[in-house]
Amino acid sequence: MIIGLVGLPGSGKSSVARLLGQHYGWDTDDTDSVIESRLRCPIREYFESCGEPAFRDVEARVLREQVERSGPLVLATGGGIVLRQENRELLRKRCLVFYLRSTPEELARRLRHDSKRPLLQGVDALRKLRELSAVRDPLYRQTAHYVVDANRPTIWGLVHWICMQL
Ligand code: S3P
Repeated sequence: MIIGLVGLPGSGKSSVARLLGQHYGWDTDDTDSVIESRLRCPIREYFESCGEPAFRDVEARVLREQVERSGPLVLATGGGIVLRQENRELLRKRCLVFYLRSTPEELARRLRHDSKRPLLQGVDALRKLRELSAVRDPLYRQTAHYVVDANRPTIWGLVHWICMQL
């Protein structure tokens, strides 16, 4: 089985993946980390030098490889993975997908010191997160088998909720 985690930046996908993996003794991975080690360069730099479309191509390739793994695996994904229909279909077909849903306000608060996310640099982060949420919320819902309230005060509550569905 592969558990896929989707949601906006800052929703806790990587932390939840790590904790779930530790809890069950399953492998964990993160499409962003695989991409960075493949490109040998931080995503932000790649975005700046090659542009978003090139990044999305690499991301789609990495996702295809990851979902071919036999599992058990918990796979955290980049926030924009759902922008491509092929990725949404692949995730839905090959993984049990959880959408970690948070409000843009909560995400902006969590990411207020972040300098890694290329889409949030040099802009009003709250406004950008509201825009991203408006576009992507329906796409995350289409992709996911479960929607999880990720505004919870502790990550343990979130992990516990997911464990109860397995
Ligand atoms: C992106 C989110 C990032 C990363 C890239 C693009 C996005 O991942 O894949 O910067 O489009 O929302 P996180 O969701 O882990 O921040």
